[in-house]
Amino acid sequence: MANVKFHGGKALPLEMHKVRIVQKLFLPPVEERKRLMNEAGNNTFLLQNRDVFMDMLTDSGVNAMSDLQQSAMLRADDAYAGSETYNRLKAKVRELFGMEWFLPAHQGRAAENVLATAYCKPGDVVPMNFHFTTTKAHITRLGARVEELICKEGLEPMNDCPFKGNFDIPRLEALIQEVGAAHIPFVRIEAGTNLVGGQPLSLENMRQVAAVCKKHGIKLVLDASLLQDNLWFIKQREAACKDMSIREITREIASLMDIIYFSARKLGFARGGGIAIRDQADELRMKELIPLYEGFLTYGGMSVREMEAIVVGLDETMDEDVISQGPQFIAYMANELHRRGIPVVLPAGGLGCHLNASLFLDHVPQSQYPAGALAAALYIAGGVRGMERGTLSEQRNEDGSERFAELELLRLALPRRVYTLSQVEYAIDRVQWLYENRRLVGGLRFVEEPSVLRFFFGRLEPVGDWQDKLVAKFRADFGDSL
Ligand SMILES: Cc1ncc(COP(=O)(O)O)c(C=O)c1O
Repeated sequence: MANVKFHGGKALPLEMHKVRIVQKLFLPPVEERKRLMNEAGNNTFLLQNRDVFMDMLTDSGVNAMSDLQQSAMLRADDAYAGSETYNRLKAKVRELFGMEWFLPAHQGRAAENVLATAYCKPGDVVPMNFHFTTTKAHITRLGARVEELICKEGLEPMNDCPFKGNFDIPRLEALIQEVGAAHIPFVRIEAGTNLVGGQPLSLENMRQVAAVCKKHGIKLVLDASLLQDNLWFIKQREAACKDMSIREITREIASLMDIIYFSARKLGFARGGGIAIRDQADELRMKELIPLYEGFLTYGGMSVREMEAIVVGLDETMDEDVISQGPQFIAYMANELHRRGIPVVLPAGGLGCHLNASLFLDHVPQSQYPAGALAAALYIAGGVRGMERGTLSEQRNEDGSERFAELELLRLALPRRVYTLSQVEYAIDRVQWLYENRRLVGGLRFVEEPSVLRFFFGRLEPVGDWQDKLVAKFRADFGDSL
């Protein structure tokens, strides 16, 4: 956001845009919220959007679009093959990343499917700073495994390291020695690490990872889905980059990579995805999978209208006023909650404000999914829908035992340019009320547990009658307020 100071000295994030299309919101009464949460199996993914006041589930495909994006959609070139829209998207990706080849995919996980199918086989190991749910599912589905090599600060919610998404380089070296480069199809860097609080990597760390890969002849892949936040943090926090433009930082990062894939539900503020590729040999290896799984090579399962919006969205990602809005609102929320004594991940990262459910609900055992319980409780308390990022989001071990997550987080995503500061204040207020009443909140247990990506559609029930007590306390404290 632009450098605008308030006369009173107040530090508030100031929007560098105005709102021109709005959507009416509804907030059901608390008794109704409890009923709806149970109808949804205590899984916030299963709530209906009409019953949600603040949808902080994700930033995926729900960021506000700009006037220029909307107008670009009108000039989309409808064609099964050879659409001009595809040419514009390919050209924009080439301009920003400097990569010759581009394969379209309908969203981020589709790109992951193509990548994993082309490169992973049983016994392979894919090192990464941290996994994302769908990434890991695609790699393990093929009999390969993921190794997480995030620096130790990344798993310490209160450590104030500015780049908690960084790779642990000595561990990367040691892993390559141990398993051998031949068993590593690629190393994956995830910008703005989703599951550890949206924490960034530094450009310097990416350079070090690239140097290790080069030395051992291993491909380097960037998951750029959350690159926009990471770019902003590099510009803000990495002294050597403070005078570089966002475009220059983007080019520099891209120059280190062999392949860059992204979810355009995030990067590009629309809905779609794609894979930028440096060498033709890699393009040929993945190309055949696009018509098989996605669609013809010039649309890859995307609507041409969305593709036009992505072209503009990618360009707008180079604008500091655009990409700073998310991190600044998130920092405002996280710092306010911290000031009130509520455990959050600090320093605030991208994507959303992350509540530390292990401390928030330190009386709920990990086997009863504290982050999931907190998500259900916050919906009941305020109609705010967050996303569990803890043990529920893990897959069980092969022997059926729970794999306990390293962090139990409730992510409150801030879709870009969607909510106002007073709505953020409301969410802060309800989180604070819940924190003051946290001892009323209990755990959850599964009643229906899918074997893959269970967090998406698994159903749970509360352990005991804690939700009734929470509703009664809400009424006692808030009277007839919604
Ligand atoms: C880092 C990262 N990679 C991949 C994906 C998958 O993208 P999509 O939801 O478009 O399939 C996401 C989505 O949240 C993500 O955050």
